[in-house]
Amino acid sequence: MMYHTSPSLLCADQLRLGETVELLNGLGIDWFHIDVMDGSFVPNFAFGADAIRAVCSAAKRPVYAHVMAVNPQNHIESFAALGCDYFCFHLETTNNPFRLCQQIRAAGMKPAAALNPATGVERLADLLDCLDAVTLMSVEPGFSGQSFLPFMYDKIAALHRMIGGRPVLIEVDGGVNNEIARRCLGCGCDIVVGGYFTLFQKGKAISECYQSFEEAIK
Ligand code: DX5
Ligand code: ZN
Repeated sequence: MMYHTSPSLLCADQLRLGETVELLNGLGIDWFHIDVMDGSFVPNFAFGADAIRAVCSAAKRPVYAHVMAVNPQNHIESFAALGCDYFCFHLETTNNPFRLCQQIRAAGMKPAAALNPATGVERLADLLDCLDAVTLMSVEPGFSGQSFLPFMYDKIAALHRMIGGRPVLIEVDGGVNNEIARRCLGCGCDIVVGGYFTLFQKGKAISECYQSFEEAIK
């Protein structure tokens, strides 16, 4: 069975984070997507160290930290110690992505880079050999529930071509619904972030949402 989604814990009922992680463990998702927001790179705050540690200890799948923060180099050591498996920095936050990738690997995590919608994939050309994954933002980062930007399909396809045979996964993040997920996966994306319009729909059980997601992407 193939799974193609990473649930965004930002969308979970924050009073029931533990139960939600348990439930998602049972569904066999690719990895847990945990958003870290510093109120500076993005106009919002999300998940601090204690919450990340708690998620990492309960998660039976890898934990992918999507770090929407300036100075990502300051957080590598601490995120490794919290138990994160992937450290995904924003390309817009660094002039030294190669050094960052080396530091992430040296800390025992897998390096990933995220690109804002306005950042071109050609900036990744020389970096792809250092990365395990790329997150393409399909909305401006900061909030859940925004509309998917339609030019993303071409961007996914372009990155997929650039990656060629390399073992670099493409994740698409923001505004994805079941139909959009199907199209993204068709363009060469490996994993869509499961958020507000897929796994965490208002008034619907997560397992029910997951079933209809799986049905839709078949
Ligand atoms: C937005 C975050 C996303 C968000 C997903 O900055 O990075 O992970 O939770 O958004 P929706 O819920 O719209 O799919
Ligand atoms: Zn995210």
